[in-house]
Amino acid sequence: MTVSDRWVRVQTPATTANLGPGFDSLGIALGLYNTVELRPAEAPVVEIIGEGADQLPTDETNLAYSSACRLAAQVGHTGHWHLKQENRIPLARGLGSSSAAIVSGIVAAQEVLGYHLDRHESLALAAEIEGHPDNVAPALLGGLTVCFEQLDGSKAAVPLDAPVGLQAVLAIPDFEVSTHEARKALPEDVPLWDAVFNTGQAAAVVAMLTSGKYDRLAEAMRDRLHQPYRAHLVPGMDALIQAAIDANARGAALSGSGPTVVALAELDDCEPVRQAMMRAARDTSAHWQSMILPLDNDGVRIVH
Ligand code: HSE
Repeated sequence: MTVSDRWVRVQTPATTANLGPGFDSLGIALGLYNTVELRPAEAPVVEIIGEGADQLPTDETNLAYSSACRLAAQVGHTGHWHLKQENRIPLARGLGSSSAAIVSGIVAAQEVLGYHLDRHESLALAAEIEGHPDNVAPALLGGLTVCFEQLDGSKAAVPLDAPVGLQAVLAIPDFEVSTHEARKALPEDVPLWDAVFNTGQAAAVVAMLTSGKYDRLAEAMRDRLHQPYRAHLVPGMDALIQAAIDANARGAALSGSGPTVVALAELDDCEPVRQAMMRAARDTSAHWQSMILPLDNDGVRIVH
C-alpha cells in the first residue's frame, strides 16, 4: 500500500431516489456536486464550507470522515485525516447529501491509500454504511441505477444511462426531514395489493425511462409504499406533484424521503413546471426554493 500525502479531491453528485414507486431501489444522479479533499494527517481535522457548515460535525463522527476510516480499516490503515468539504447539496432534503458524504469519503480514501475497490465493491460498502442503496448507487455510478440484493445480502446495482432529454425540477422547502424520521413513518407491513401495484409501477418507470417513452411516466410514477405514509411530513406534497404534472412534467414524486419534490420534465417544459410548482408551494406555510438541474451520467469523480 502506497499512501499519498498529496491532497486528493473528489466531486460527488446529488441524487434523487425512489422516483415514486422504486422505494429503496431506483435513483438518478443530478448535476449538483459536493467536493471533498482528503489527505493523511497527524490529528483529525475537518473543515466545511457551504451547506451544513454550521450543522455538520467537524470531528471523527463526520460522515465523510468516518466513511474514509471505514474504507481504510479494510487495509489496516488507522491514521488520521485532514478533510475539507465544500457542500452545495442541501442537507436533509432528500437529495442524497449523506450519500454524497459517504461516497466521497470512501472514494477519496481509496485514492489516497492506492487501494482500489471496483465500483460494485464500493457500492456494497457505501450501502452498508447508508443503510439503503438507492442514493449511494447513482452517486457512485451516475445515471439511472436499479438496485437489488445479492445472495449474500449485500447491495448491487444495474447502472443505466440517465433518461435522454429530461431534466430535474426541484422544489426544496426550508424545513428538513431526516431520513430516519421519514422511515419511522412507514408501516411494518403493507397490503399485498399495494406491493403488487408498486412492482408493476417501478418496472414501468424503468422501462419508460430507458426507452424514451415518457408519455405515461406520470401514471407509472404513482406510489403506494411510502409517499402516502410520508405526506403529513411534507405539507403540499400532493399539490406540488399535481401542479408539476398539470404543467407538462413527464412525472413527479417525493425526492427520496423528502421533503424535496422532484419533477422530471423535457427541457422546454422545465421553466413552466418550476413556476407551477412554486405557485402551488405558496399555499403552504413553508418557504420553497427551486432548482432546474441536468441529470449526471458520471457519478463520483476524482478531480485533478
Ligand atoms: N429510499 C430511501 C427512503 C431514500 O425513501 O427512505 C432516502 O433518501
